Amino acid sequence: MRSIIIALLCLFGSTQLMAADLKKGKKINKTCALCHGAWGQGTAGAKSPRIAGMTTGFLVKILSEYRSKKRKNAGMVATSGIHKMTDKHIEDIATYLAGIDLRNDPRFDVDHAKGDKVKGKEIFTSECKGCHRKNGYGKPKKGIPALAGQQTKYIINTIKRFKARKRVHDDDPEDDLFDEMFPKQEDMFNLTAYLSTLDDVTEPRSATLPDGKTILKPKAKSKEVKTAKAPIKESLPGASVSEITQTVAKMELGKGVTKDEAIVAMRNKAIELNMRLVGEQHVSKALEARGEKTPYLAIFQFCNLSDAKAIVHNNPLYAAYMPCRVAMVEDTSGKTWLMMLNLDILVDNTLVSKDIVKTVIGVNQKMLEIMVAGTTGDL
Ligand code: HEC
Ligand code: HEC
Repeated sequence: MRSIIIALLCLFGSTQLMAADLKKGKKINKTCALCHGAWGQGTAGAKSPRIAGMTTGFLVKILSEYRSKKRKNAGMVATSGIHKMTDKHIEDIATYLAGIDLRNDPRFDVDHAKGDKVKGKEIFTSECKGCHRKNGYGKPKKGIPALAGQQTKYIINTIKRFKARKRVHDDDPEDDLFDEMFPKQEDMFNLTAYLSTLDDVTEPRSATLPDGKTILKPKAKSKEVKTAKAPIKESLPGASVSEITQTVAKMELGKGVTKDEAIVAMRNKAIELNMRLVGEQHVSKALEARGEKTPYLAIFQFCNLSDAKAIVHNNPLYAAYMPCRVAMVEDTSGKTWLMMLNLDILVDNTLVSKDIVKTVIGVNQKMLEIMVAGTTGDL
């Protein structure tokens, strides 16, 4: 009997997999990768949660909620065209991401967060474990997501939003779990300190992608990968740059957003993020002044002085990438786009040294936020 059930489960699993187009999912994922990383791993910070390894069902649910605006994230929806996705597209991307297993790959282990882990464990055990499970990986079939492996700042930010009732927890608008929880911020940090230990690597191996390929050839018997602390030296070949589009992050100007509104929104966002607007060239306007008619083109340059200092100090070559630019450009069909160099491609190809990876990711995130503000006209 048991084997019949297993056989049926396998059959069900494989037909589901056949229905989704993983190639299409992989293609869609390139647009998600701008913010969530090439393998949905997320990055430290509140704006880039880990989405790899969530179940297909959970991802379909969340993406559908973004599409119907039940859950709001204008920047993400506009950038990845989620509002235009069919159910099939959503299933393709969800199945693709669900197939990425980053657990036990030391390179994706989240950094331990500051706080008292022992106290954090007490809170987790009494308040969260029942649903998010002892190992922190949740109950995927019941729609309960993993907290293990999730980016710490994202969890903190999400809890704050639960507390402020800006996001519904447990799909229950009446859920009051967080109302009285964490009267002291310290308790929240203790909890996240404990959560950040839950994905610690126990059996080192390399991550797997949904089409069965490993991101990295496992050094199965090599001594180097046997201990959790051993450094993994290989680069991640999955991100090798084969076409120019991979080096560029682009977003179409949202419906009803004028170029001028986009520019104001970008300028304001830059101030908020401490990115200085160090230059503006209105190329098409200048050409028109000379009597040459040309599609719209303007270039905006931003720079955070201390980040720039840290990056160039690490290697003067990076100065060639500075300052960060956003181009506003009209294509032949009259659509207006915002475009920038996607610095993540350097990180994904391990072209920046470890010491400044976080700074570079941070700069890229800020630039993306500026672009998102521009496309949505968000002030
Ligand atoms: C412009 C940046 C951006 C892009 C592009 C983007 N996202 Fe997101 N995404 C975010 C941010 C920021 C959040 C967290 C905010 C929130 O909770 O609503 C998020 C949240 C999510 C979540 C919820 C995660 C959780 O733990 O609840 C899922 C799932 C998700 N994104 C999937 C995707 C997919 C799939 C794509 C590509 C089709 C994509 N995102 C593209 C920025 C982005
Ligand atoms: C009664 C079951 C239940 C309990 C208890 C519970 N959760 Fe949840 N939690 C859920 C469900 C279901 C979701 C997914 C739906 C949603 O987005 O809120 C969720 C989502 C979350 C998320 C968002 C994760 C993401 O990827 O976006 C966080 C963070 C979270 N819970 C933290 C906690 C913490 C911390 C505790 C304990 C203090 C806790 N939860 C207790 C059921 C529960």
